[in-house]
Amino acid sequence: MNVAVRSFAKINLGLYIGSRRADGFHDLRTVYQTIALHDVIRVSVDESLDKRAGGRVEIVCKCDDPRVPLDSRNTCYRIAKLVMEAFGAVGKVTIEIEKKLPVQGGMGAASSNAVATMFAMERALSRRGRKRSRNHVAGRSLSQAESLRIAAQIGSDLPLFVVAGTVLGVGRGEEVYPLADLSPAPLVVVTPEVGVSTPQAFADWDRLMSKAGRAKASAAQLTHPGASDRLFEVGCVLSAWLRGSSHDGAPAKGGGRAGSLSDLVRAGIENDFERVVFSQFPELRDMKRALERAGSRYASLSGSGSTLYGLFGSAAEAAKAAQGLRQQGLKAIATRTLTRREYWGKLIAATH
Ligand code: C5P
Repeated sequence: MNVAVRSFAKINLGLYIGSRRADGFHDLRTVYQTIALHDVIRVSVDESLDKRAGGRVEIVCKCDDPRVPLDSRNTCYRIAKLVMEAFGAVGKVTIEIEKKLPVQGGMGAASSNAVATMFAMERALSRRGRKRSRNHVAGRSLSQAESLRIAAQIGSDLPLFVVAGTVLGVGRGEEVYPLADLSPAPLVVVTPEVGVSTPQAFADWDRLMSKAGRAKASAAQLTHPGASDRLFEVGCVLSAWLRGSSHDGAPAKGGGRAGSLSDLVRAGIENDFERVVFSQFPELRDMKRALERAGSRYASLSGSGSTLYGLFGSAAEAAKAAQGLRQQGLKAIATRTLTRREYWGKLIAATH
């Protein structure tokens, strides 16, 4: 069975980085939002090959984009192994990645591709009628808890795509909580040519924090209070927003429910990565300014970049802004956020 799945991108609505943990990861707080831009993942699972392959799992990744690795460095390849294990299945898995989203772009493309692979494989494996191996139960599908566990083993940014819509991310980003969906919002995404390495951006953040800590300690003869303050700060912003009130405690319109996107923006969300990535790539700061000049209500780097996005009041404003930015030589696309229901409704592109 061949299954084609849309692999949607995400943006981060604010991202706060805390301390580096003993396992090398950083604690963080962020609100993820899925958007309509997507790659397409096509998967086929051929279990008739299991005998010829000697009862082994063979994984073949294909992609026209030379920047995408096709071996075990590929997130799709890695998750395919885990999914075959979970199903107790053997045979050949072929994964084709139709790449439109930027590589190292901060939109979670590689993570989303892997989750799409898992969903496609799950569909292919659970539809087959026969019992293929001792461990496999025909017709079985993965529970959400299993999908989240498998996703988190591959990377911090995968589990959000198991939940989708508006999602609170804590821990190293892998601990995800579905939030009340924000109403669909038009946005413009600018995708620069440069790619940003996420581990490098975290390392740069550590250097910046330790420099700031030393300066503060020598000025006030005090110990630097530590990165946990950043997380406390955003905790206040987010809990005010979740209560449906503004940061200063004044009730927002429609109070009592989770706030709107404009409430969240008014609360003053920031992406900490801008502080390290913009100094390394000043052209990205210029692109953020270009989005603001084009009428964006809020513009930001997504994740560790290099993608920038701007939120707009209407689809027409977003389309006009994208056109203007393209005339300035930028790669700009007008799109919109995707609610949880829309994400699940559009996920499967085709099965045959
Ligand atoms: O989890 P993921 O594979 O996306 O992480 C890639 C790298 O980014 C990690 O090896 C780590 O260096 C860094 N990272 C981090 N803190 C996080 C997430 C990622 O330091 N919360």
